[in-house]
Amino acid sequence: MLIVGAKGFAKEILETFHQLDQIESIVFYDDVNEDIGDYLYSRFPILNNEAAVNNLFIKNNQFTIGIGNPILRFKLYKKFTGLGGKFVSTISPTAQIGNYEVTIGEGSNVLDNSIFSNSVVIGKGCIVYYNAILTHDCIVGDFVEISPSAILLGRCQVGNFSQIGANATILPDIKIGVNVIIGAGATVTKDIPDNCIAFGSPAKIIRELEPLIF
Ligand SMILES: CC(C)(COP(=O)(O)OP(=O)(O)OC[C@H]1O[C@@H](n2cnc3c(N)ncnc32)[C@H](O)[C@@H]1OP(=O)(O)O)[C@@H](O)C(=O)NCCC(=O)NCCS
Repeated sequence: MLIVGAKGFAKEILETFHQLDQIESIVFYDDVNEDIGDYLYSRFPILNNEAAVNNLFIKNNQFTIGIGNPILRFKLYKKFTGLGGKFVSTISPTAQIGNYEVTIGEGSNVLDNSIFSNSVVIGKGCIVYYNAILTHDCIVGDFVEISPSAILLGRCQVGNFSQIGANATILPDIKIGVNVIIGAGATVTKDIPDNCIAFGSPAKIIRELEPLIF
């Protein structure tokens, strides 16, 4: 299993594998930080080139992404599936996942103590952090980040590449667009359109963002 990245969020994903007792074959990838060394925690190899990944993928082509930024996650998803990788999810054993009609897309990382009610859908490449709560009938797009202790109330929708800040609360039926950043601690009481930053209680749009172009 390859974890793409070897710094902050990659260490959090490692903990999930540890909890699952699946650390035997863990390998990291980092071709950006030159000071990173050959091993993380003096134990887990860190690859830094595509040839090494190609070799690894002959034996085991599973990878997940240990980097938080949604756009970077998307680009790395494209790169490593292009190398023949299979994008896989990680779900902490302490996450509580509803038993009825819950869909978690490929490559999503669900961290400790998050709660999914029933009839919840999240797309691919998402991060659902510690203690986040997704209540019934929420629909979350691809490469979305739900930060620690954020709460999505009934039937909320969150568009692709959006980030919901720590401790933010999204009220029932609210639709949040694509490429939106909701600030930490916000209370979102009205729909939020694509490409903007909003924060506060009630949340107000404070800045427009350039639409994403890939
Ligand atoms: C909303 C956010 C994206 C704004 O970032 P930014 O554009 O860089 O804003 P700045 O830090 O320059 O702050 C601009 C102003 O907004 C205020 N502000 C920033 N974030 C705020 C928030 N969440 N709620 C209320 N006010 C906020 C600042 O105090 C500052 O006010 P001032 O102009 O009176 O000094 C960011 O502050 C935030 O909340 N990000 C979410 C972080 C998070 O939850 N991460 C989880 C990672 S796991």
